[in-house]
Amino acid sequence: MITTGLTPVITEHWDAPDLYTLDGYRRFGGYEALASALKQDPDAIIGQVKDSGLRGRGGAGFPTGLKWSFVPQNDGKQHYLVVNADESEPGACKDIPIMMADPHVLVEGVIIASYAIRANHAFIYIRGEVPNAIRKVAFAVEQAKAAGLIGKNILGSGFDLDVVVHSGAGAYICGEETALLDSLEGYRGQPRLKPPFPAVAGLYASPTVINNVETIANIPFIIGRGVEWFRQFGTEKSPGFKVWAVSGHVNNPGLFEAPLGITMRELLDYAGGVRGGGEVKFWLPGGSSVPMLTAEHLDLPLTYEAMAEAGTMLGTGTPMIFDSTVSVVKAVTRWLEFYKHESCGKCTPCREGTYWITGVLEKFEHGHGTATEMDTLVNLCGQIAGRSFCALGDAAATPYPAALKFFRQEFTDATHTPVDGTFDPVASYVFAPAVAR
Ligand SMILES: Cc1cc2nc3c(=O)[nH]c(=O)nc-3n(C[C@H](O)[C@H](O)[C@H](O)COP(=O)(O)O)c2cc1C
Ligand code: SF4
Repeated sequence: MITTGLTPVITEHWDAPDLYTLDGYRRFGGYEALASALKQDPDAIIGQVKDSGLRGRGGAGFPTGLKWSFVPQNDGKQHYLVVNADESEPGACKDIPIMMADPHVLVEGVIIASYAIRANHAFIYIRGEVPNAIRKVAFAVEQAKAAGLIGKNILGSGFDLDVVVHSGAGAYICGEETALLDSLEGYRGQPRLKPPFPAVAGLYASPTVINNVETIANIPFIIGRGVEWFRQFGTEKSPGFKVWAVSGHVNNPGLFEAPLGITMRELLDYAGGVRGGGEVKFWLPGGSSVPMLTAEHLDLPLTYEAMAEAGTMLGTGTPMIFDSTVSVVKAVTRWLEFYKHESCGKCTPCREGTYWITGVLEKFEHGHGTATEMDTLVNLCGQIAGRSFCALGDAAATPYPAALKFFRQEFTDATHTPVDGTFDPVASYVFAPAVAR
């Protein structure tokens, strides 16, 4: 199995200036996988995606074929495919480049996926702050419609599909799949109670599959080149390749498409190493929502399973590198400020917890934390994790415990009292009353 080296597949033709057009995409075999898919039974397509072992690239790594198979078939109901193109996770930048460089690969994936789950309507929900990506995808959809690849009786198959490109309004929570559905329906974007899961009752209470852009961009390759070809990349439990977006303190930040199972050290090499010849202090495998690792983890394979064993997650597969100039206390405080700002407020642990954690962390940032508050923060995170309505709360409870595990001394150094618990933690809180927030 290939777990090393660069393996451009999705990104292979990105240097072709007209790749975003139908002609450009077709020159490299575009829409051939669709033609082949439409000749097969939809269940056979689901079977191939299942066998490929493709796992969702939106963060949770859920097996894509399995998700598709949850949609009740032949139930006489309308089915929907929704593409999650809201990419707002701090550090994540791979879906937007895919849509900018090669929107037709997404459109082709959307048509195949819709056919497989027997959906006649698909929505692509794109983050509102990226008008260029919205324009590119909308243009690709229009071109596909004009070429008879979207619409009635696609390529004479009898399959009808309508595709709508929808612009979000800029809220991180609208990337959470059920909040996204509410937003799409015109409501305020807030997560829904699960179950029922979207596969049973999603958009307009109908069976719905929600998939990430990169997940869907894999589909034409799996169907076009085959399961065996796909599974030669990566590991048994994490097959395939990924568009790794490496950012932070590296000489050459950017996108590097490589198999799952590659190490961070190798990716770091592709990214030109740490700036100024420095050292990695800590890094995050996939966005701010996953626990940090340190230099001692650089040789671990970047797979779902190895990251879980190391106490973190692969997340969006968009590693952020931090060198020794960075204060862990400050980094964690910035992330918590983000979660506090983006918390939708629906549930108490997250709404109140992110506010309180941020307030305490800001004290540490200015050297005014206390030893007792180091424990208070652990307790606050424990009150949020697993007790929140959606995964944003869990994500907010993640950075501090991970940072404490590896960099306790930095928090200790940010206290203004000896680490003996003698300081009065209650008196140390200086918060504005709730009404003034
Ligand atoms: C707060 C929050 C934000 C999220 N943002 C995104 C996002 O921008 N894009 C995305 O694909 N998934 C995002 N997710 C994950 C989605 O809920 C969902 O798991 C994903 O879209 C499923 O697609 P996949 O199976 O192809 O990975 C987010 C989850 C949470 C909790
Ligand atoms: S965990 Fe946070 S973002 Fe999620 S529903 Fe609760 S308040 Fe909203």
